[in-house]
Amino acid sequence: MKKKVGFIGWRGMVGSVLLKRMLEEKDFLHIKSIFFSTSQIGEKNPKFSNFLFPGFLKDAYNIEELKKLDIIITCQGSLYTQKVFPILRSSGWSGYWIDAASDLRMNKDALIVLDPINHMHIKNAIYNGIKTFVGGNCTVSLMMLALGGLFRQNLIKWVSFSTYQAASGAGSKYIKELLEQINFLNQYLSKKSTFSQSILKIEKNITSITKNFDFPKKNFLIPLILNLIPWIDSSMPNGQSKEEWKMESETNKILSTENNNRVLIDGTCVRVSSLRCHSQSFVIKLKKDISLHKIEEILSNDNKWVKVISNDKESTLKELTPLSVTGTLNIPIGRLRKLNIGSKYLSAFTIGDQLLWGAAEPLRRMLKFLV
Ligand code: HSE
Repeated sequence: MKKKVGFIGWRGMVGSVLLKRMLEEKDFLHIKSIFFSTSQIGEKNPKFSNFLFPGFLKDAYNIEELKKLDIIITCQGSLYTQKVFPILRSSGWSGYWIDAASDLRMNKDALIVLDPINHMHIKNAIYNGIKTFVGGNCTVSLMMLALGGLFRQNLIKWVSFSTYQAASGAGSKYIKELLEQINFLNQYLSKKSTFSQSILKIEKNITSITKNFDFPKKNFLIPLILNLIPWIDSSMPNGQSKEEWKMESETNKILSTENNNRVLIDGTCVRVSSLRCHSQSFVIKLKKDISLHKIEEILSNDNKWVKVISNDKESTLKELTPLSVTGTLNIPIGRLRKLNIGSKYLSAFTIGDQLLWGAAEPLRRMLKFLV
């Protein structure tokens, strides 16, 4: 019998990407889909050109309805998880909960899913009765897919990172705000007379427009366009941002490393004005000195999405930019070279689509395992 799968938060950005991928992969053929809503209960189920889901949206807060499901997959966000998950579990529901939100990630009876990396842990977890599966933080998942081979062969002593994270990671209203910021500047830039002024005059005017009281910045608090924001998420007591803290803690949880064998990972997370691709620059201290050729081989052989980009300008511009990766499952990794600091120090740069491998795809694949 087909498993009854409830979809919550399927209309949002991550949820929509998830549904699109499921339609592409024809995943809906293998499940009985039940769609829920927190705000539009009773309206018609979603309709796609090649897939119709007859029936009406159910109440995402109705515990009795949720209890009928074998699997729940939610992209509704933290508040929903916090509110519904404990009640549902304490009501005795023992179905599978697959979640995009971060709340349950570090729970001891939850697994962070990224199957190209931790497929065996997922299999063992299902066997051992684990019922809660959570997608990792996007930066973490994208880093792990890119460096999978080095993690798998236990070659990494530590990683220091700088990230260049897209607006989409903050949520859809942030992308809109970034576009509004562009629009706001355009009121000046689109005037014919603007470009007859000297470049320093234009630059001065543009800068003063970004300081305008009406400049759209309700969400980001400051302009992101023509700027960057070296702080993502809340603050940790040790001076890290929470996004930075997640890199080491989630990575080691995904790898199930023992306490004395933890991979040390730290650095700075930065928001930039790309739309949906996160980029990351790494300095990696290797446990042993291995040749660059061997490193490239280890990286490329790890999973079918990672691709080593040769370290030259032409290939980098063609294949190692957010715009060349957006909307794909590709994980290019390039700028690979040994640093002048020493032969165990590797430099690398990688990019991934924050909504695909960074959010929806690990959840889609987890659902597929369960059905
Ligand atoms: N925390 C990420 C970001 C979102 O702000 O870019 C992906 O989990």
